[in-house]
Amino acid sequence: MVKPDGVQRGLVGEVIDRLAKKGIQLVALKMMQVSPELAGRHYGEHQGKPFYDSLIAFITSGPVVAMVWEGDDVVAITRRLIGDTDPREALPGTIRGDLALFTGNNLVHGSDSPESAGREIALFFDESEICRYRLVLDDWVYGL
Ligand code: RTP
Ligand code: MG
Repeated sequence: MVKPDGVQRGLVGEVIDRLAKKGIQLVALKMMQVSPELAGRHYGEHQGKPFYDSLIAFITSGPVVAMVWEGDDVVAITRRLIGDTDPREALPGTIRGDLALFTGNNLVHGSDSPESAGREIALFFDESEICRYRLVLDDWVYGL
C-alpha cells in the first residue's frame, strides 16, 4: 500500500515502478479512503502500542493506494525493497531509505508474512477485483 504521505508527495508511480521493475506482478490496485474501522482491523496487531492512535490517524488522513503483487517469495522481496520501518535506518536503494525520513510517515506498507498478506488482501479487495493473467515478462524474469 502507498500510504497517504506517498499519495500526497506524488510517489505512487515511483513505488509501482520500483516493484514492477523487480519483476513481480501487479494483480490488483485501487485508490481508496481507509475508514477508522478498516484501519483498526488492518493494524489490529498494534492495538495498545504507544504509536497506535497516531498510526490510525495517519493511515486515515487521506487516500491510499492499495495493491496486490504476486511472485515467488513476494512478501520477503517486497519487504526488502521497502526497507526498515524507520526510514533513517533503511538502506539506500530501498523505498524508505531513498524517499522517507520519519517512521510515522514511511510511505508504504507491505504485508509481513504470507498469512498477513492473505488477511490484508481480504480486508481491502473483493475476490473479483484480483486479476488473474499470465505475465509474458515472467519467461524473461524467471527464465524460459
Ligand atoms: P507497515 O506495517 O506499515 O508496513 O510497517 P512495518 O511492518 O515496517 O512496521 P510495523 O512494526 O508493522 O509498524 C506499523 C507502522 O506503525 C508505525 N510505527 N511507529 N513510533 C514507533 O515506534 C513506530 N513503530 C511503528 C510505522 O508507520 C509503521 O510503518
Ligand atoms: Mg507491519
